This record gives sequence, C-alpha cells and structure tokens, in this order.
Amino acid sequence: EKGGYDYFMLKEIAEQPKAVADTLLGRIDAAGNLTLDEVRISAAELREMDKVVIVACGTAFHSGLIAKYAIEHWTRIPCEVELASEFRYRDPILDAQTLVIAISQSGETMDTLMALRHAREQGAKVLAICNTNGSTIPRESDAVLYTHAGPEVAVASTKAFLTQLVACYLVALYLGQVRGTKWGDEIRAVIRDLSRIGGAVERVLETMEPVRALARSLAGKDTVLFLGRHVGYPVALEGALKLKELAYMHAEGFAAGELKHGPIALIEEDLPVVVVVPSPRGRSLLHDKIVSNIQEIRARGARTIVIAEEGDEAVEAYADHLIRIPVTPTLLQPLVATVPLQVFACELATARGNEVDQPRNLAKSVTVE
Ligand code: F6R
Repeated sequence: EKGGYDYFMLKEIAEQPKAVADTLLGRIDAAGNLTLDEVRISAAELREMDKVVIVACGTAFHSGLIAKYAIEHWTRIPCEVELASEFRYRDPILDAQTLVIAISQSGETMDTLMALRHAREQGAKVLAICNTNGSTIPRESDAVLYTHAGPEVAVASTKAFLTQLVACYLVALYLGQVRGTKWGDEIRAVIRDLSRIGGAVERVLETMEPVRALARSLAGKDTVLFLGRHVGYPVALEGALKLKELAYMHAEGFAAGELKHGPIALIEEDLPVVVVVPSPRGRSLLHDKIVSNIQEIRARGARTIVIAEEGDEAVEAYADHLIRIPVTPTLLQPLVATVPLQVFACELATARGNEVDQPRNLAKSVTVE
C-alpha cells in the first residue's frame, strides 16, 4: 500500500506531480481556457462580491495565505485570511457580498466547519476547497471545488497542500475572468505556467539527495529558523510547521523583513536558517532585499540554507547550502519551493527516530474545537 516507500509521507511527496496535474484536469478546455462551471456560484453572484475571506487551519491556512497574493493581484478584491479557530470569535464583518473560502483536506476539521457555519449564518456565500468527497465541509457549503490529491494518509499534509494551492489559483483566475480584471490571454498564460508545474516538481524531487544529507547532518540541532518574503513567507511558515510536527524541533517562520524588529537576536553561531528566495526576475527589489537579509544573518554566524531559482547567482556567495528550484513565476513559486522543505522535515524526523506517518499527539483530522 505504501508502493515501495518506507512511509506514506514519502509516497505522497512523490505523488505531487500527479496530484497537481489531476487537480487541473477537466478544468481547462482544449483551447486553454478555464472552465469552472462545477462551482455552483453564478458568475453574476461572483461579480457582486466585494470581499474574499479565507478560513482554514494549519497547512491549509498556509495555502490560504498564499492564495491572498494571487486573489488580490489578479482580481483586485480585498482578501483576508484567518485561522478558522480565531475567525468567529472576533465577530467578523460579513454579508451577502462576502465570498468565504473554507480550505480543508479532510473536510471534517471542526474549527473550519464552525467558521463556515458562522459565515453562512451571517449571509455570506461559502466555497469549500476540499480533498474528501462528500465530507461535512463541502456538504455544508454553497459550492465546492475538489482537490484531486487522492487519499492522504500521512498525518503531515504534503500533496493536499500543493493541490490546495492549485485550486486557489484556479478560483483566483476564475474570479478575475468573471469580473473582467484578468483577460483570456493572461489567464491562458497562467494556466500554461500551472500545467508546467508538475514537471518542475518532478525535477525538484530528482535533486533531493543533498537535502536529505543536509537534514541528517542537522539531527542534533534544537532550532531551525525559516525566512521568506511575499509568497515565500507562508512557505517559510509551512516549512517550520512541517519540522515541528515531524521532527519535534523548535522551528519558526518569519517574514524576512521582520528580522531586524526582534528575531535577529536569535541568530547565533551555526544556527541553521532556511531562506526562501523569490525569483530575481520581475520583482527584483524583493529579491535584493532578501539577499541583504541573508548577508545580515550570515555575518552574525547563521548557517544559511538557501532555496533559490536556478541561475540566481546573487545568492551564491552567502549560501552555506544552496538548494536549487526551477525558474517559476513568482506567484506560483510556492508550488516548487515547498517541496524541499517537506523532504527536509521528513528526513530529519527519520534521522531523529520519529514516527514519520504518525507524529506524537497529532490526528489526521481534528474533529474537536
Ligand atoms: C499539517 C497538517 C494540519 C492540517 C490541519 C487542517 O501537516 O496536516 O496542520 O493541515 O489540521 O486539516 P484539514 O485540511 O483537514 O482541515
């Protein structure tokens, strides 16, 4: 059942190119246009929406944080992302013009379910992004877009996360399409980029041996920090979450720009710091900023583990370990940048003798509040 892998997690990491392709399947027509008719909220209703609110927990929450960048950039609709467990307790402002997106792999997470019930009581429309057919969250939502990751058995979410991202990008493009903020050509271009991602993930997976060796060499460490900016920030949060739950290590993700506002005090000799570097193309300002962040922490003794695009030479001088990922448009970069972090956490867990598929104290679906 593990298909020759030692753990379900390894199998599920390896299945990611297919999971991504399957989630695109049937949603793009022969001409490369988006066809999301399955989403049962009419184009007229979607045009009325003046706010998007995403609710989710854990890894699904991180996919929502990334979705915010795509939704706001492509549709110009304000988008908030909130932990489902916090959402209803602050009396959020919702009405019939609010599109609430509930993201959940299992479809049974109680916090997310309670958040969506609260949203519907306030008159908001709820779209579920879910991996489990017929589960409670899609049943109680106005509409659903299923991710096609297939069953995810390992407690730590991997392929479900990548497919949640794909589904979020599709929803963002669809919103842009019906609202006219994104035109056919642009949408087709993004879709083309999305359909190449599976291959890019495949290439990342083929180059993971040095990442595994690095992880093993860090098995005795107590702390690993993760830094990112823009969409790389939620990727950093996800890398830290994976390490906590699997390796039982202290791991924290920071927005790289926040370093100087406190976290830089944590940097000491030989502290491993993983940095997710945005593409040097396009938003180069962002790239330059993070390169100086890497310099700053390295000057203070950090051991820098840098995840950067192929061909990005600016980082080479400051990277103690360099993990290359394929060139990818900035907004889609999390689909490839997350993969080495999953492999890293899985290998560290193994090296520390932990139970990879069943980390202590955790359950695959959290059906209590
Ligand atoms: C982390 C992880 C959890 C889940 C969270 C939400 O690897 O698996 O953080 O992402 O419990 O679960 P779902 O997506 O089922 O609502």
